[in-house]
Amino acid sequence: MTEKQELYFDHLVIGSGLAGLSSALTLAETCPGQIAIVTKGNIDDCNSRLAQGGIACVTDSQDSFAEHLSDTLYAGGNLCNRDNALKIIQAGPERIKWLTEKIGTHFTTKAELGETQSGKDEYDLAREGGHHKRRILHAGDITGEEVERSLIAACEKNPRIHVFTHHIAVDLITKARMAKGQENDICYGAYVLDIRTGSVKTFRALTTSIATGGCGKVYLCTCNSDVACGAGVAMAYRAFAPIANMEFFQFHPTLLYHPKVKNFLISEALRGEGGTLKMQYTRGVYTEFMQNYHEMKSLAPRDVVARAIDSELKRTGQPCAYLDMTHKSEAFLRKRFPRIFAQCYELGINIAETPIPVVPGAHFSCGGVKTEVNGFTGIQGLYAVGETACTGLHGANRLASNSLLETIVMPKLASEHIAANLDNLRKAAPEFPIPAWSAGNATNSDELVVISHNWDEIRRFMWDYVGIVRTDKRLERAKRRIVNIQNEIHKYYWDFHITSDLVELRNIATTAELIIDSAMLRHESRGLHYNADYPERNPELDGVDTVVRKPYPY
Ligand code: SIN
Repeated sequence: MTEKQELYFDHLVIGSGLAGLSSALTLAETCPGQIAIVTKGNIDDCNSRLAQGGIACVTDSQDSFAEHLSDTLYAGGNLCNRDNALKIIQAGPERIKWLTEKIGTHFTTKAELGETQSGKDEYDLAREGGHHKRRILHAGDITGEEVERSLIAACEKNPRIHVFTHHIAVDLITKARMAKGQENDICYGAYVLDIRTGSVKTFRALTTSIATGGCGKVYLCTCNSDVACGAGVAMAYRAFAPIANMEFFQFHPTLLYHPKVKNFLISEALRGEGGTLKMQYTRGVYTEFMQNYHEMKSLAPRDVVARAIDSELKRTGQPCAYLDMTHKSEAFLRKRFPRIFAQCYELGINIAETPIPVVPGAHFSCGGVKTEVNGFTGIQGLYAVGETACTGLHGANRLASNSLLETIVMPKLASEHIAANLDNLRKAAPEFPIPAWSAGNATNSDELVVISHNWDEIRRFMWDYVGIVRTDKRLERAKRRIVNIQNEIHKYYWDFHITSDLVELRNIATTAELIIDSAMLRHESRGLHYNADYPERNPELDGVDTVVRKPYPY
């Protein structure tokens, strides 16, 4: 039986992390019609699944939206969109209710930790860097996994949601792409590569929601999953959508430093439980240092902590810093942080007895496709949600655990916007045929080493030149290299049949270039963007986003 190369759905969702699955489910609740999710691996191959911390949300009577907003804006370095941040924060409690009452997500309670005296069962609220209150709902230290589990189960029960695994989106189909004019652009769906057959299918839809997550794989050291290659930002950029604030890439201060394990996060929630960052200036002696950098010490906002560790490592030549949890009992740590405890224990580190070796690593993209708070990109029918989007919630530095909040709030706002615009979207459906993907004269490549070489080279120079501390010279070096690589990829792309590796390389290269270009445009240091040639914040740039848009025609 031959597979259909053109498929029609009412709604197409690209990505199956928290934002993608929430999008499909809220669309099913709000709009009629069939929904397709395309995802390049298995349904649970996503980055948000690795989230340990939790969901920042005001659920405690001692807390308030104003305080959550204030912490968000402070961390964001005068670059947040205040209105959008407030809308997302205010929508949080209702979305948590949705998760717990409708979807079946379980968050850890005080009773489970043996901590309730009142007999009333309440959520155990964690604290992380930059938060002045305990306000983070969590499922032990596997929050992402628990939310993803429950969302997958809900999607599987819904007959209107159709999941296409091992399908990687290649490009968006837009009116402009088909040379039908750039004005009032409309998105008609996406070309999607079926990885197992090698064929490119046309997925047509009234709406397309990009929920492909971030792009941590742009950097050599990252705690992101292998799927985080910047697909959404790169595709939207190629579709002429504006991309904002890509220079603000968040480096998490504490990834486990161990030769046997790569990419393992040591959650900031440990510092919320009193963990302190230390250096081993003298062998065997662990000394605190964060008091030299910020009044909140080890619980300072993430940009400050990552830069402080980076500076201590460079100054002392030490390979790592340490996170000391030895003030807590083994019983507590096993219960509250089961995954982290077990992972370290397996490597011979009992975190109740020994400080944990840690280094900073690439974690989260605060920039992305510039959207309204409901994910609308300005291209009719095209939405971006979650880490792929830049709504202004994060500004120049994301406050811990605001990311999962965004993944459950934005899809709801997007589906309401879509429901309100369905008639217009139906009228905008194309009256002309959409051409099938054309492979031109492409042949099979005999030199796949080009892909792996360029992949490694990008990640290495991004880490060395466009990392935690930048300079003009480093950025110029990175720009020269990415231009060469882009030329090579461009030629390769059209000469050879596409594969998922090639699609990912093209996306990672585009995302890297967007980060470099955005960093070159910002002549100041603010939040996560630190350029040693402009070490101060320029108050004239308060609230000013860096927006990069591909010139038309491409
Ligand atoms: C963490 O658990 O430290 C990560 C949470 C986040 O990135 O918001």
